[in-house]
Amino acid sequence: MAGLSGTAGVSGTAGLAVEVRGLRKSFGPNKVLKGVDLAVPTGSVFALLGQNGAGKTTIISILTTLRAPSGGSATVAGYDVCRQADQVRQVITVTGQRVSIDPVLTGRENLALVARLRHQPSPKRVAADLLSQFGLTQAADKPAATYSGGMGRRLDIAMSLIGQPRVVFLDEPTTGLDPASRREVWAAIETMAESGSAVLLTTQHMEEAAHLARQIAVLHQGRIIAQGDHQAILVAGGADNLEDAFLNLASSGREMK
Ligand SMILES: Nc1ncnc2c1ncn2[C@@H]1O[C@H](COP(=O)(O)OP(=O)(O)OP(=O)(O)O)[C@@H](O)[C@H]1O
Ligand SMILES: [Mg+2]
Repeated sequence: MAGLSGTAGVSGTAGLAVEVRGLRKSFGPNKVLKGVDLAVPTGSVFALLGQNGAGKTTIISILTTLRAPSGGSATVAGYDVCRQADQVRQVITVTGQRVSIDPVLTGRENLALVARLRHQPSPKRVAADLLSQFGLTQAADKPAATYSGGMGRRLDIAMSLIGQPRVVFLDEPTTGLDPASRREVWAAIETMAESGSAVLLTTQHMEEAAHLARQIAVLHQGRIIAQGDHQAILVAGGADNLEDAFLNLASSGREMK
């Protein structure tokens, strides 16, 4: 699958899994994105933080070619999301805010099905490997409907890795999970990054961003008000924890450059 893309189109954005410049999106009079700039390095976890309605899912929708921007530009793995949408779709996977597994099938069957759909040469082998990698071997032959919330998300994340996507988008992967399940999903996301995919995830949880992400961007009122590693955001927000840093940045209206 990765062979379809090769290195074509990557020139100029080497080292960046996602590059967004001046991205704008309006729904009627509602200006949701007012000029967003993002640079997501390859092979790491990047967290996009923002409150409800900040526009996180809107950004994911544009980057995954499901929605057209109103202005600005964005590339994924070097491909333009508007002019090269087909190529973008070949090198990404996206997991939305709802789990996309089939509850009637077992975990093993869900994985094998997706592996067949993505033209993997040995779907059963792919399923077995992922079940083991994500700690699901014991539950492999039970219907997914019987899985806990955390197990379901882990299965979902395992599915999104099939075909070795270059960029994986996860929209609020832990929302609604209890603390233990959240930890399980964090481990799954770390496994995913270790496998070489760049991961762009959205979250409302500062702790999640601090734990998982090498780079964090804070979206507020249509703009990125801070972007950098954990320490850079603490410094910008003048606080010793991300939550206070976020609140300070948001209330001051300052932008970190
Ligand atoms: N299809 C649409 N039509 C009109 N307005 C929309 C549409 N999709 C999103 N919006 C508006 O865009 C804004 C941002 O929504 P979005 O879903 O991107 O936020 P979010 O940061 O993902 O929020 P949440 O944390 O609740 O998931 C909201 O004001 C929302 O009402
Ligand atoms: Mg959302």
